[in-house]
Amino acid sequence: MENKDLHGFNIVNYHELIPRNGFVFRFIKKDNDYIHTFVEGSFITDTLTPTAMVVGHTLLDFLPKKQALQKLVYYERAWDGDNVTYEGNIDDVHYVASLNPIEHDGEVVEVIGTAFDITDQKRNEAKIQELEKLSVVGELAAGIAHEIRNPLTSLIGFTQILKERANDDPMQSYLGIMMDELDRINDIIDKFMFIAQPDKTVEIKVYSINSIISNVIESMEKEFALKGISIEFDDDTLIRAECDRSLITKVLQNLIQNALEATEQNSEDIKISLKDISEKHYLIQITDKGSGMTNERLKKIFEPFYTTKEKGTGLGLMINRRIIQLHQGIIDFKSEVGKGTEVKITLPKTLN
Ligand SMILES: Nc1ncnc2c1ncn2[C@@H]1O[C@H](COP(=O)(O)OP(=O)(O)OP(=O)(O)O)[C@@H](O)[C@H]1O
Ligand SMILES: [Mg+2]
Repeated sequence: MENKDLHGFNIVNYHELIPRNGFVFRFIKKDNDYIHTFVEGSFITDTLTPTAMVVGHTLLDFLPKKQALQKLVYYERAWDGDNVTYEGNIDDVHYVASLNPIEHDGEVVEVIGTAFDITDQKRNEAKIQELEKLSVVGELAAGIAHEIRNPLTSLIGFTQILKERANDDPMQSYLGIMMDELDRINDIIDKFMFIAQPDKTVEIKVYSINSIISNVIESMEKEFALKGISIEFDDDTLIRAECDRSLITKVLQNLIQNALEATEQNSEDIKISLKDISEKHYLIQITDKGSGMTNERLKKIFEPFYTTKEKGTGLGLMINRRIIQLHQGIIDFKSEVGKGTEVKITLPKTLN
C-alpha cells in the first residue's frame, strides 16, 4: 500500500532519491518569493550550505546576489510548469541540477530539485581542453617556426651590420628599434619551437645550481638597475644537481622577469633562495613584493597565450611548467593582490 500524506500526496522517501554525490531540495512560492522547504544530501549540507541556511529561506538569503538572480530565472520557469536543467557552482564545486514541478489540480504546488556534483567531470573537461589547445599550438608551432627561423636569422644579421655602419643618429635609433623588435620575434619563435619538440632539446648533466642562478641574475643586472630594484640571492647552501642548464636558465629568466615586471619602479627587492630540503630534493624560491594576483588570474597563468602584458606572449609559464615537469619537479605559485607573489620550484637532484 502507498503511503499518503494529509493532502493525499504520495509520501516519498527522500533518502532513497538522494544521489550519493548530490542533494535534493524542495521549494514553494509564497508571497512572490521562492522559499525552500527542504534540503538533504551530505554533499551540500556538510560542506557548502548548512540545512539551517536553506530551509525557510530564499535564494537571496544564502547565495551571492548574482548567483541567486540567475537561479531565480530557472525557479520561475519551473514554477510555470517546465522541467528545467541547469549547471551551477558554489566555490569550486560544480553541479548539475534539475527542477521538477509537482502539479496538483493543474497548478504547480511545489518544485523538487535534484543536484549532482560534477566537479570531477568538469576538471577532466578543462584538462582535455588544455591538451587540445596545446596540440593546436604545437602543430602551428611546428609548421611555422622553422619556416620563419632562416629568413629571420638573415634579417637579424644584416640589421646588426647596418647598425654598426650607420653613422647618423636617427638611423641608429631606428635600427636599434628594429633589432629590439627582431629579438622579440626571435624569442617568440624560440618559444614556439620549444613547444613543438620539447623533449628533443633536453641535455642532462651535473651543474652547480648556484652558478646557474647567479648567471641569470648577472645577465639581468642592467634591467634591474634601470628599474631601480635590487635582487637578493640567498645561496648559503651549495647545490649540485642534474639538469639541462639552458632549460633551467629559461625558467629562471622568465620567473625573474615576471617578478620584475610585477614590481613597481624603485620599490622592494626581489628575493631568490636556494635550499636543500631533503637528501633527494632542493628548492628554488622567488619572491616579489609586486602587484600579486587574484585567485581567478592565478588559475589561468599556465594557459597558453594568457598574458596581461602589452608585449607578453603568455607562453612563458606554460613552457616553464613543461620544463619543470621534464625535470620531474613541481612548480607552485602563491600570490596575494597588492602583497606579491612567491614561486616555489622543487626539483630532484638526480633524474630517473
Ligand atoms: N610574479 C608575478 N606577479 C604578478 N603576476 C604574474 C607574476 N608572474 C606571472 N604573472 C601573471 O601571469 C601571466 C603569465 O605569465 P607568463 O610568464 O606565462 O607570460 P608573460 O610574462 O605575460 O609573457 P611571456 O610569454 O613573454 O613570458 C602574466 O602576464 C601575469 O599576468
Ligand atoms: Mg613572462
